[in-house]
Amino acid sequence: MSGPARACRLVLITAAACLLGACTPQTPSVLDARGPAERRVTGLWWLMLWIAAAVFAVVIVMIVWGIVRGRSRSEEDARRPAPWGEPFVVVAGVGVSAIILVGLFLLSLRAMHVLAAPGRHDALAVHVVGHDWWWEFRYPNGAVTANEIHVPSGERVRLVLDAADVIHSFWVPQLAPKRDLIPGRTNELWIEADEPGRYRGQCAEYCGLQHAHMAFWVIAQPPSEFGAWLGDQVRPAGAPPSGLAARGRDVFLTNTCVGCHTIRGTDATGKLGPDLTHLASRDTIAAATLPNTPDVLAEWVSDPQDAKPGVSMPPTQLSSSDLQALVAYLRSLR
Ligand code: CUA
Repeated sequence: MSGPARACRLVLITAAACLLGACTPQTPSVLDARGPAERRVTGLWWLMLWIAAAVFAVVIVMIVWGIVRGRSRSEEDARRPAPWGEPFVVVAGVGVSAIILVGLFLLSLRAMHVLAAPGRHDALAVHVVGHDWWWEFRYPNGAVTANEIHVPSGERVRLVLDAADVIHSFWVPQLAPKRDLIPGRTNELWIEADEPGRYRGQCAEYCGLQHAHMAFWVIAQPPSEFGAWLGDQVRPAGAPPSGLAARGRDVFLTNTCVGCHTIRGTDATGKLGPDLTHLASRDTIAAATLPNTPDVLAEWVSDPQDAKPGVSMPPTQLSSSDLQALVAYLRSLR
């Protein structure tokens, strides 16, 4: 690509990215495709942009030409109809426009068909459940995680999408177009990441007070690393801890925590909130909005409403020593 063409493309990318709300470096851009599904959408987007730009340029040139020519004509010339006037309007205005629109429509249908294909049936299938306001990811081997979905890079992963309460929308801008999660209806989507990496996802359908804070991470790993991760995640929580963490375990099991959370391998089997069996292996909590550090975890347990007003988790009244023990236990759940 030549220098001016590259510069022109860069300006267009920047302008388009800003228009699409991708001005901050943390915000993933839909134009920065990192997988085959999103690349198909991005390719179509660029094609539409260039065709629209070309049509716009032709129309502008003709308007300018008409103005210049109109000024230089005598009154007698102006009264005479242009010999090619009407056919030109029919061919350019109707014919060419129709060809462009029908062509783009057919290309869109083709892209939708490819994107709707559920993927190979031997592909890994992950069950995704949208909740107010967090994400549950269930793997076929029984592993369950929340707000961080691990996938093998370079492989197609089939996502089976359901909602527990209201409509949500699963969107990883760099990997695939949006797909709604609808209560009572199961949708499917496939994603594939070219390379290992972290790809930010976001709920893209307004679902209530904390909709904007309903984020998640797709973590693509080399297949062998992913296999090891999945093997770790399916294990129940480790042997009963000792010391402060052991006391924290008792705090967890004798307080309201058990009503909502599961920790596999203990008596905690609540289903309303995220599975915490391997909580400490996650980098974030609260739907990828807070870092998973001891201090943040303690603040979150004490008063989740402060960080995310309206969230289902109530404040937990604990003495500071119980809270410290509880956090030590949660941090031991690797
Ligand atoms: Cu879930 Cu918006």
